[in-house]
Amino acid sequence: MIIARSAQELEDALKTRPGSRGFVPTMGALHIGHRTLIDAARRENECVVVSIFVNPTQFLPGEDLSKYPRREEADFKICELSGVDILFYPDVSAMYTADEIRITAPDVRGFILEGASRPGHFDGVLTVVMKLLNLVHPTRAYFGKKDAQQLALITQMVHNFFMDVEIVPMDTVRENDGLALSSRNVYLSSEERQEALKLSAALKHATKMVMQGNVKSFTIQSAMEEILAPLDVEYVAIVNRAFQSLNEVVIGDTIVLVAARVGTTRLIDNVWM
Ligand code: PAF
Repeated sequence: MIIARSAQELEDALKTRPGSRGFVPTMGALHIGHRTLIDAARRENECVVVSIFVNPTQFLPGEDLSKYPRREEADFKICELSGVDILFYPDVSAMYTADEIRITAPDVRGFILEGASRPGHFDGVLTVVMKLLNLVHPTRAYFGKKDAQQLALITQMVHNFFMDVEIVPMDTVRENDGLALSSRNVYLSSEERQEALKLSAALKHATKMVMQGNVKSFTIQSAMEEILAPLDVEYVAIVNRAFQSLNEVVIGDTIVLVAARVGTTRLIDNVWM
């Protein structure tokens, strides 16, 4: 595995690996969810590139960037054992200069739900993903459906800017008890981890209601809120794939999303119907 720490080192490394290229952008603290993305990239491409970069521009003032889990040694091992060809591991100065042009998330889709609680977050995500896609030139780039709004906005950016890359959405990976894998799960105490199961339980209940023919968003949301209590719920939302609010679930075009704080840890989860 080649480790590239700058744009130049990455360009040199890419020259040694011709053929189709699968790309998995990450912020490190890799878990089985990332491994699933890397495995898909491995199966579907001749060369696999992973980036590990804790992107400062997607953290808001007050969100503690320095506390984001960093596990360099373990992450390098996971990449090596997963058959990654090139690991891009830049520092901030390799990615940003002062006073740059930024990509801005669209008004509506960028500033509801995750964008409402974290205004400006998606500007940072889109800016860094644009940079990474331009540096790596992948054939396919893999993103998890757990970050559904991020996935929708990246897909839109690629479309709006006529970028030549296929965005591949990948299903959320869960623990046996239903907890969606997230780098933030490490912050949960064992009691909080139990409480966190309320997110997946609420989504499971929503799926059950829809299967029984209860498709009214209001009824589903109320039932989910009962299951989630007494967590500090930020939102329970039922939207279509374009992130427009739905009064009723439309099978094949619905995402049910939840964001809640468990202790001080903010968790998100969703189910695609
Ligand atoms: O989902 C993430 O880990 C990040 O938002 C991403 C896409 C790597 C951009 O920093």
